[in-house]
Amino acid sequence: MIKEPTSLLNVRTSGQWHEHYLRNAAQRLEVPWGHREIEHRAGLSPGEKKAIGSSLQAWQLGETSDGRHLLAAAGRYARRQQDPLFVEVVRLFIREEQRHGSELGKFLDLEGIPRISKDWGDTLFRAIRYALPSMEIWATVVIMVETLALVFYKAVRDATSSPVLRRICDQILRDEVHHIRFQYERLAILLRRRPRILLRATYGLHRVLFSGTALAVWVGHRRALRAGGLTFRTYWRAAWLRMGYAWIRMDPARYCWAEPGATRGAAVALATDPPAVP
Ligand SMILES: [Fe+2]
Ligand SMILES: [Fe+2]
Repeated sequence: MIKEPTSLLNVRTSGQWHEHYLRNAAQRLEVPWGHREIEHRAGLSPGEKKAIGSSLQAWQLGETSDGRHLLAAAGRYARRQQDPLFVEVVRLFIREEQRHGSELGKFLDLEGIPRISKDWGDTLFRAIRYALPSMEIWATVVIMVETLALVFYKAVRDATSSPVLRRICDQILRDEVHHIRFQYERLAILLRRRPRILLRATYGLHRVLFSGTALAVWVGHRRALRAGGLTFRTYWRAAWLRMGYAWIRMDPARYCWAEPGATRGAAVALATDPPAVP
């Protein structure tokens, strides 16, 4: 059951996000790479390799974007908002995603699973982001993929006994919770002046897009998800529960806004942290 926030929230400033990404980079979990070399059991069993190998290849590719298009969109947005630090925050965010890609890549290399350079899901979502290069489209697509990443990496973690892969998944899961918060706060900011009726239409479109994305992830990765103990029903429920949480938190009406003309004008500075994400 999702607990709805009972009091108004505040979005984090770019300065707070900058601090978060720097702190997070310095506090990473240690991946026990040595185990893989000492003891073969630390790697994937043949059954695990068959169940999750191709999905790991696809998600590894998805985590390795160079972020050029995103940085360009963030630069335009930051100039309009007169928030130059935002570009630096996005740069740190991209670096964190690239770290996911490089750790998964290193794991694939150790397991003798080739890295891939093309995947239909990755191509599709890059195409959507590149065709409509606005911060809103970008954050919307990314929050959906990251929500599904929470379900996927939790399933992969449960599907393997490899301490190396489990630790990589732990770190990704930890990071993605904050990434989702980064996106829903940005969406709340971007949507804060949208009239209620258009907001409802926006959420309607989100639901259509999320249905398609969640279905595509199931179709493409059902073997890995099943290996992690999920059925279509439990996968679907977990995906919508997590996205439901993000929708609640991206609603601008739940935030204090310092400027007039926003959904709820309240003379509160955007300085304090919202409650921690569970
Ligand atoms: Fe990631
Ligand atoms: Fe992410």
